Amino acid sequence: MRLGRTLPPAAAPVSLWAVANGLKGLMRGASEVRRFEGELKAYHGSDHVFLVSSGKACLYLILKALQRIHPDRREVVIPAYTCYSVPSAIRRAGLRVCLCDIDPGTLDFDHTCLERIFEERGHGLLAVMPTHLFGVPADVPAIRKLTDGTSVTAIEDAAQALGGSVRGQPLGTLGDVGFFSLGRGKAFTTVEGGVVLTSEGDLAAAITEELALFDGYTAPEFVGLCVQAVALALLMDPRLFWLPKALPFLKLGETHFDTDFSLKGMSGFQAGLARGWQKRLARAASARRRHSGAWAEALNGTDDLRQPEIPGPAGALLRYPLLVADSHCRQAILLESERLGLGVMTAYPEPLDRLPVLKPHTHSPDCPGALQVARQLVTLPVHPYVTGRDRQRILNVLLE
Ligand SMILES: Cc1ncc(COP(=O)(O)O)c(C=O)c1O
Repeated sequence: MRLGRTLPPAAAPVSLWAVANGLKGLMRGASEVRRFEGELKAYHGSDHVFLVSSGKACLYLILKALQRIHPDRREVVIPAYTCYSVPSAIRRAGLRVCLCDIDPGTLDFDHTCLERIFEERGHGLLAVMPTHLFGVPADVPAIRKLTDGTSVTAIEDAAQALGGSVRGQPLGTLGDVGFFSLGRGKAFTTVEGGVVLTSEGDLAAAITEELALFDGYTAPEFVGLCVQAVALALLMDPRLFWLPKALPFLKLGETHFDTDFSLKGMSGFQAGLARGWQKRLARAASARRRHSGAWAEALNGTDDLRQPEIPGPAGALLRYPLLVADSHCRQAILLESERLGLGVMTAYPEPLDRLPVLKPHTHSPDCPGALQVARQLVTLPVHPYVTGRDRQRILNVLLE
């Protein structure tokens, strides 16, 4: 077990002041949630915003609403390398998963594979999910070219991309509907939470009906949220992060396929915790942009470490992805980072076509790109707690 300075792989700072705002928000209840909704609408220029308990609850909500509109369509196309919460929500909604391979050079869909899926299975597809993995913008306009004139909905998985944009357009607003996660380790956190955005009136009406079936938080759950918020405020600091990291039952950074997640409307506590989010997000994004740019520059031209193509200048990524071709070298980097507390991590251990639990409910062509990424990926921290000295120490480990 490591004692001493330890970087979390990803972190959005939460202050005790924010926790106090959360408690005030708890008193204000629904009006605090409406305030947060209004601010998100104005920021993104979306007609409708819905606030719930997680990103997977967002996706479940969107899919149940879409099923009301297109009851004959049952398949959802997702990247074969993404967060396991995504297929969890699709299965919870009673739908089938259709995997599409990814391009290791962009971490986006392999567009040849996607076109083939549309040709062969287009009539049964309910939705396709371009995903901004680690905040790297996916090519949503290319997806919309495929979905235009069909009944397939483009759901933008912007879980990891709040505050990002391409050509001045906010991520999350490029598809027919989009969602963000406000979970721990995202660009901005309310302990747990999710935001759905859409300007499609019919879909918004169906989402409103589905959302009415969600629960609210109970009193013990409020206490749990409050304790977690205080823990985030105190323990994400690298001087103390070794402590939660040493507690295996917290399962930090782990992701599992699990359909048994809660479906709740967001509470006033979480909305209160988010007060001042635009300024806080902008401050954190400036650090993430600076570190992402520094990684891009420092690693430029290194033969064995391959950076993904990022459209435009390096934006405010959530983690900086890197492919390490040599598996011994990758293992050595991960072990040394663990020893020194540098926050270099893998992401999801296996591509989704290798999860036995999903097999019976999945259409899965060969996904060599997703397998390559699962075997070669490491991610570098870019959050506001990272210092120039941390970056130098990480670079020494990478280039050794
Ligand atoms: C790409 C992606 N989609 C969806 C989710 C689900 O979000 P949540 O953890 O808030 O349920 C995550 C969470 O990490 C994610 O990374």
